[in-house]
Amino acid sequence: MPFDQLGRELKDLRVSVTDRCNFRCSFCMPDGHEYEFFKREEILSFEEIARVVRIARTLGVKKVRLTGGEPLMRRHLENLVALISQEVEDTALTTNGFLLKDKVKDLALAGLKRVTVSLPSLRDQTLSELVGRNVKVSQILDGIYKSLELGLYVKVNVCVVKEINSDEILDFIDFFKPLGVEVRFIEFMDVGTLNGWSLDRVFSAKDIIKAISQKYRVIPLGKQKKGETAEGFVLEDGYRFGIIASITQPFCGECNRLRLTADGKLFTCLFAGEGYDLKKLLRGGAKDEEIREFIVSVWESRRDRYSEERLELLKKGEKPKKVEMFKLGG
Ligand code: GTP
Ligand code: 5AD
Ligand code: SF4
Ligand code: SF4
Repeated sequence: MPFDQLGRELKDLRVSVTDRCNFRCSFCMPDGHEYEFFKREEILSFEEIARVVRIARTLGVKKVRLTGGEPLMRRHLENLVALISQEVEDTALTTNGFLLKDKVKDLALAGLKRVTVSLPSLRDQTLSELVGRNVKVSQILDGIYKSLELGLYVKVNVCVVKEINSDEILDFIDFFKPLGVEVRFIEFMDVGTLNGWSLDRVFSAKDIIKAISQKYRVIPLGKQKKGETAEGFVLEDGYRFGIIASITQPFCGECNRLRLTADGKLFTCLFAGEGYDLKKLLRGGAKDEEIREFIVSVWESRRDRYSEERLELLKKGEKPKKVEMFKLGG
């Protein structure tokens, strides 16, 4: 199993299947910009992705998460899920939920195990403002209910932006607690360059706990597994939720994720400026062993720890080049 320069083991592969999205979330891909998307021929085929997964499995990857842009924009994603779930035990999806209700049955039948739905508000108006289009909360919830009915493990991601949806923390707990669905509040991050991020727009983990503590006693559980993004918490009645505090409590020390973009580049950090071109090898007739060696060399030379360096960089006024989140997935 490859270890990087900081001793971190490769475990988790995230595959972005498209850079397109039917939302324009203000914290990710704000409206009003001219976005350029990959052309069809630039995008890896399902067979190419499955080949990478098969090779990555031999390096210790046990979990694959499909992301986007919005992964459900890619046609017949269930065919990819079927290929991947032959290779690894745990195939998961991160989606904005808009198309979930209609697509989740085929995905579950193909072997999908878990789904994470991004839902930043429980109010129609705030949700529509945040995601840049008219969306009803009920439409996203229907996708969640359907996923639960099908036996998938569901988590809900809430990117919290101060004074936009930060007053809804308790509403999220009260809504999802009876359903037993784990909510993860994510501190607003400076991913990409377009989302107008500043430190004073971050509603911190501490603030989030304070909001929940107004009604419930919150018991910290810490990280449930090595390399996990979320700190776990439990309420007295046993309900668990999480906080992903990449700004105030960075977790680079155990970062075990490798990301593959839709156009076949490997990224070793969510905040990296550039990736490593794997597609050239995939399409240039390379043998599995060469691809394997390439992945190992990318991982072994890695030393990124952006979230731990962020405040230092900010202080110095440095603005590193960063790829946009919708090109990488979460
Ligand atoms: P599983 O372990 O497969 O359940 O995935 P996860 O818990 O990592 O969940 P998920 O992929 O949904 O990650 C949640 C969110 O945390 C992502 O969408 C990102 O916003 C953020 N995140 C995930 N990985 C990283 C990371 O490596 N660094 C930083 N800074 N944030 C991350
Ligand atoms: N900060 C925190 N989380 C973000 N996400 C997208 N952009 C940001 C950001 N700037 C979340 C989405 C989704 C996942 C892919 O990442 O809400 O759950
Ligand atoms: Fe929103 Fe995800 Fe689309 Fe970004 S990729 S705009 S976070 S739905
Ligand atoms: Fe990993 Fe980069 Fe996130 Fe740190 S900032 S946890 S190195 S992806």
